[in-house]
Order: sequence, then C-alpha cells, then structure tokens
Amino acid sequence: MNHHQKMLSILAVGLFTLGAAGMAFGDDDDDDDRRGNRSERSQPHADFAPVTNAAYGEECGSCHMAYQPGLLPARAWAAVMSPEGLSNHYGDDASLTDALRNEISAYLTANAADQTGGKRARKFAESHTGANGGLPRISENPYFVKEHDEIPLRLIKDNPDVGSLSKCNACHRKAAEGDYSEQQINIPGHGPWTD
Ligand code: HEC
Ligand code: HEC
Repeated sequence: MNHHQKMLSILAVGLFTLGAAGMAFGDDDDDDDRRGNRSERSQPHADFAPVTNAAYGEECGSCHMAYQPGLLPARAWAAVMSPEGLSNHYGDDASLTDALRNEISAYLTANAADQTGGKRARKFAESHTGANGGLPRISENPYFVKEHDEIPLRLIKDNPDVGSLSKCNACHRKAAEGDYSEQQINIPGHGPWTD
C-alpha cells in the first residue's frame, strides 16, 4: 500500500466503526421505547437525577413539569413547600393535604441541589442567591440566568409555545429525564440552539 491507500483504508475502518456504534445506539433507543423501560437505560447525559417520587410527579407535575429536586437547594424547597408558600404559589394556589405536603417536602429536601453530588446540581446550589421578594425560583438562579441570557424575548415571552423560562420542557426535549444538554434543545419556532 502506498501512503494514500493506507490513509483511505484507515478512514474506511473509522467510518465503519462509527456506523456500527451509531447503529448500536439506535437499537438501544428503540429497545427502550418498545419496552418503556427507563430503569435499565444508561443515562450518559442526565444532568440531574430524574424524579422518582410518584406523589411529587403527580401533584407538582400537573401545571408545569415536575422540576428535578436538584434544581433548588433544600432551604428553597422548604420555602416553596411551606403552607403559606403553597397557598400563594407564584400567583396560583397549589395547597396540599399535610400528609402529601410532608411526603413531597421530605423527598425534595433530601434530593435537593445541595444534598446531591451531581456536578450540575452543585452549580445550581452554589449559585443560588435566595428569593427576590416572593418564592425562590430556579429561573432566577444567576447560573441559570447566565445560561439563558442570549435567548431573545420573542422566543420566550412572546412565543405562544413557550411563555416563560419556567417551561423547561418546551425547549429542552429531554427535560423530564434530567437531560438539559445543548444537543437536546429545540426551541419552538426556532429549532436547535447553536451558539
Ligand atoms: C395549580 C397549578 C400549579 C401546581 C399544582 C403547582 N404549580 Fe408550581 N408553578 C405554577 C405557576 C403558574 C408557576 C409560575 C410559572 C411562570 O412564572 O411561568 C409555578 C412555578 C413553580 C416554580 C418556579 C419555577 C421557576 O421559574 O423557577 C417551582 C419551583 C414550582 N412551581 C414548584 C412546584 C411544586 C413543588 C409543586 C407541588 C407542590 C407545584 N409547583 C405545583 C403553578 C403550579
Ligand atoms: C426558551 C427555551 C428554553 C427554556 C424554556 C429553558 N431553557 Fe434551558 N437552555 C436553553 C438554551 C438555548 C440554553 C443554552 C445552551 C447553550 O448555549 O449551551 C439552555 C441551557 C440550559 C442549561 C445548561 C446546559 C449545558 O449543558 O450547559 C441548563 C442546566 C438548563 N438550560 C436548564 C433549564 C431549566 C431547568 C429550565 C426550566 C426551569 C430551562 N432550562 C428552560 C433554552 C431554554
């Protein structure tokens, strides 16, 4: 083989390997979808541990997605979950029975940003500055604000399919799985995010 042929054959092997890897991942996804089996799925991109408490998912996932506990520190969840916080919930009433409130509050605080080891959760915990008047918000966290400050308002507030940055899953297609990576962003009316 001359030098040129050698390069070509190396390239061919490389492409074949990439193709095979791509097929393997594709198969994996299909399998997961068919079985609907989340627990067996490897989650190389999950920035946050997905929600595991059924009561939380049900009670706090009806008006907006059930935010991963790792998005707010424990003291912030405690404020959101206080009886006063729930009855005056960002302009809504999200009151619960004491039993449900206690169960959900315990789940959220035990898995909060400052209680888990995840890198992304730690960033949210370190950057959290507390409430700006009302209840604390994920979307007011300075790290969060920095990550989202280049998105024009017409794609958020003035976008009928989004409305506010609180609607994580409007743009982050895998938000419910805790995957907020750039590759999984698709802003309605705009598409993928490339910066
Ligand atoms: C009746 C509807 C409703 C229910 C039920 C509800 N929420 Fe909300 N929640 C809202 C609204 C409305 C907002 C403000 C969204 C906005 O500003 O666009 C909000 C905002 C939030 C935010 C702040 C999001 C941000 O911008 O950072 C958190 C955290 C939150 N809710 C947690 C919870 C928890 C925990 C529960 C369950 C106890 C819950 N929510 C149940 C309506 C609801
Ligand atoms: C209007 C669409 C939109 C909404 C709504 C939105 N995001 Fe984002 N998010 C983006 C874009 C665009 C980026 C920037 C990606 C980049 O430049 O790396 C981003 C970045 C992020 C990042 C950093 C990702 C990384 O790998 O660096 C996190 C974490 C994140 N968003 C979480 C959230 C959460 C949690 C919510 C809801 C409370 C939310 N986002 C709501 C569009 C959105």
